[in-house]
Amino acid sequence: MPFITFEGADGAGKTTHIQLLADHFAQQGYPVLVTREPGGTQLGNEVRALVLGKAVRPISPLAEAMLMAAARAQHVDEVLKPCLAEGRLILCDRYIDSSLVYQGVALGLGLDLVISINEPAMAGLWPDLTILLDVSPEVAYERSILGRQDADRIESRGLAYYRQVCAGYQSLAAKWPERFCVIDANRPLVVVQADVLQAVSSIL
Ligand SMILES: Nc1ncnc2c1ncn2[C@@H]1O[C@H](COP(=O)(O)OP(=O)(O)O)[C@@H](O)[C@H]1O
Ligand SMILES: [Mg+2]
Repeated sequence: MPFITFEGADGAGKTTHIQLLADHFAQQGYPVLVTREPGGTQLGNEVRALVLGKAVRPISPLAEAMLMAAARAQHVDEVLKPCLAEGRLILCDRYIDSSLVYQGVALGLGLDLVISINEPAMAGLWPDLTILLDVSPEVAYERSILGRQDADRIESRGLAYYRQVCAGYQSLAAKWPERFCVIDANRPLVVVQADVLQAVSSIL
């Protein structure tokens, strides 16, 4: 079974579409694992709280990238590789491309450094398919920020930040066209959902 990752700015619809897919494929009898990064393990959730939590304390770009990679190393070893060995369909909310966009592009570390930090963490586990839910920065910003009091540290950086993130994702999709499936997620949910289902079904 394939290892499928979902990427896109906050508000793109990753969590929504993963849940819809998980329900669909579970109903068809597929063994499905839904997981996320940072997270997916106890250590991963602790790193998530450290990096995305409300505590105010400086974290350098390199420290942030290394914390994310540490969480990924644990996730790959403890969850992803064992579940792939069991033959499960893995739907993962964010993975390497989030590190490349957020720490590599937005925080300016560069793709090469972020890849080199993450290669030992991933231990060869690149996604079979990465669904990029491609939204305009304005739509993403509106969906994720408006009406929410709890915008986390990364989300609260504003619209200019969303522009960098959305452009960063598009450049990654151009760099790895065979791995990425880019879906226009500005459209209504059911329309996007149909395209996501088709993309995932096509590699099963
Ligand atoms: N295509 C869409 N059209 C309208 N609203 C959407 C669409 N996709 C997602 N949403 C809404 O936007 C919000 C953010 O979606 P979510 O799945 O949490 O995004 P992400 O996990 O990528 O941050 C949710 O309220 C969701 O219902
Ligand atoms: Mg989400």
